[in-house]
Amino acid sequence: MQGRVAVVTGSGGGIGRAIALRLACEGCDIGVFDINEAAARATADLVRALGRNAAVAVGNVAQREDVSRGAEYFGQTLGPINILVNNAGILRTAPFLETTDAQWRETFGVNLDGTFYFCQAILPGMIERRRGAVVNMSSWVGKKGVPNHAAYSASKFAVIGLTQSIAGEVAGLGVRVNAVCPGIIVDTQMRVDAEMSNQRQGLPDVTERVRAIPLGRPGVPDDIARVVAFLASDEADYMTGQAINITGGLWT
Ligand SMILES: NC(=O)c1ccc[n+]([C@@H]2O[C@H](COP(=O)([O-])OP(=O)(O)OC[C@H]3O[C@@H](n4cnc5c(N)ncnc54)[C@H](O)[C@@H]3O)[C@@H](O)[C@H]2O)c1
Repeated sequence: MQGRVAVVTGSGGGIGRAIALRLACEGCDIGVFDINEAAARATADLVRALGRNAAVAVGNVAQREDVSRGAEYFGQTLGPINILVNNAGILRTAPFLETTDAQWRETFGVNLDGTFYFCQAILPGMIERRRGAVVNMSSWVGKKGVPNHAAYSASKFAVIGLTQSIAGEVAGLGVRVNAVCPGIIVDTQMRVDAEMSNQRQGLPDVTERVRAIPLGRPGVPDDIARVVAFLASDEADYMTGQAINITGGLWT
């Protein structure tokens, strides 16, 4: 993927940073988009340390203006965008009847609207050049609902529907659109926050759930990054509209 340009949302930390660094190792220049400026700049420094170009745009994926501004800036500074990874996401767990309007809208705003806005901003250029790959971040709970995850789970199911719908529309135009569905991924801030929230709600903790993973360990961000890099590459040029589980066998 030497010299290709990849935009990775939420790449200031966790899985997004691992994806940015993996794509940089494969030869991509990286557009780092994140709401956290210090974290985004730290990722960009790591990308440059790997010998690739990086540009930073700070913004909220749930705001169309931020997304339009970011996409335009990446195009100007890095060149035509070949790869888009819609990774930014948030998790707010609560019993369904206690889920507030604010939690519901915030979750859908980041997880779904963000993906919608970035696809609308970057797909036209890909279609014009008849070349591009998009990878959207769903989840293990994007295929199977679990208690206390109503907003999150519904938003991640929606990401798969959006992926399949766009994939069908652009398949004849040189652009592929896939999704990935990670399982329990440790070493990320989201996992730390989720465990604290699960504890408060009396839900099973990570150690208990990891026992159910056939491959016997939780995932780490690079487990996801490797699959995303594959889907973004020409090695996957006969794949579109898929939602790939990366769960250690937890959901089949
Ligand atoms: N960690 C897991 O167990 C797990 C499992 C399945 C799916 N996922 C999905 O993987 C993705 C990344 O998860 P993670 O664990 O690395 O999360 P994380 O919280 O560790 O990192 C998320 C990154 O996104 C950024 N971000 C958050 N809201 C944003 C917004 N509105 N606009 C721009 N940037 C924003 C954060 O600043 C952060 O850098 C998410 O979509 C998540 O739903 C995670």
